[in-house]
Amino acid sequence: MFTHRLKEELKSLKEQNMYRNLSILRENIIDFSSNDYLGLKDCKKTKKQLCQKIDTLQLGSGASLLVSGYTKIQNQLEKHLSNLKETQKCIVVGSGYLANIGMLQALIKKEDTVLSDELNHASIIDGLKLTKAEKLIYKHKNTKDLETKLKTRKNKGQIFIVTDGVFSMEGDIAPLDDIYKISKKYDAVLIIDDAHATGILGEGKGTLFHFGLKPEENIIQMGTLSKAVGSYGAFICASEVVIEYLINKMRTAIFTTALSPIQNYISLQNLQIMQAEPHRRLEVLQKAKYLAEGLKKARFKVTFNGTPIIPLIVNEEKKAIKIRDFLLQNNIFLQAIRPPTVPKGTSRLRITISYKHSYEDIEKLLSLLTKFQT
Ligand SMILES: Cc1ncc(COP(=O)(O)O)c(C=O)c1O
Repeated sequence: MFTHRLKEELKSLKEQNMYRNLSILRENIIDFSSNDYLGLKDCKKTKKQLCQKIDTLQLGSGASLLVSGYTKIQNQLEKHLSNLKETQKCIVVGSGYLANIGMLQALIKKEDTVLSDELNHASIIDGLKLTKAEKLIYKHKNTKDLETKLKTRKNKGQIFIVTDGVFSMEGDIAPLDDIYKISKKYDAVLIIDDAHATGILGEGKGTLFHFGLKPEENIIQMGTLSKAVGSYGAFICASEVVIEYLINKMRTAIFTTALSPIQNYISLQNLQIMQAEPHRRLEVLQKAKYLAEGLKKARFKVTFNGTPIIPLIVNEEKKAIKIRDFLLQNNIFLQAIRPPTVPKGTSRLRITISYKHSYEDIEKLLSLLTKFQT
């Protein structure tokens, strides 16, 4: 009965072109789907340093942060991140998904109201499901709608505004200058998910800095170490009291084993390289712009938003899969992104550029996409 139900659902996913499976990428394939924007996930310098240091590092943390899993290297990493994000404190947790669901559940109470962009990441959506607060979803990047919705709130508690800094599937940037003004006007707490902005925007410091803003008591910056930083784990940077509260209340920090010291060491080394080598960030943006301009010349409807993410929206799931498979035959990997990751009817090839891509790689992608189109 149970297995039958699962099989039926899987069959239906196949019929709707929504079926997914795992695949290991061939060696030497050109990957245009990774979030490794700065080319740090395979960083030779960090590998070398890790080899030298390995004897002194524990393989696992052995326990949760509050038991005995909090290590010197995690403390160093948190201090480094607070410095980067110019906040009083930081907490590092297992992943961006865990950071968002745990933080939102811990901070937002039943009597509060939360305003969330309709295209915010799934981890924010899931985190909000864990709170009993009033939830108001505003149109993508639409600050007029944000304020209109805010005025309709029924709850009398704290107001929260939650937004991705860079939207993962669109590659566009939240209008944080205007959102910040609204947050000040209504004394709202502003939570920014900088998963895709850290290492890229605001000289690598994130979306707040991109807009010339500075951290304040009511601003929380979350981010992941798994994208531009090329490692794994995530962080929340905020005021001392917010972090103190999260240490005491955040279930995804309390009831889970702390990250391995090895992983934290990798994050720390890669962060240092990220800051010492700004040309990685500048080059990746130049390359993304080059690709977007090439696609536009070939009559594709794309926009360059000043980030390494360029979505090529083809609408139909079937078409997205066809393009993916065609590219795969030609040694390029570009995943077809379909619902529920993106809204229905907006299936796409989400192109991400890495510092590691050569202009020849980009030319190859351009010429294959053009060939497919004609
Ligand atoms: C905007 C955004 N937030 C959070 C996450 C989750 O981060 P992680 O991959 O570290 O769990 C992602 C990653 O997919 C993301 O795109």
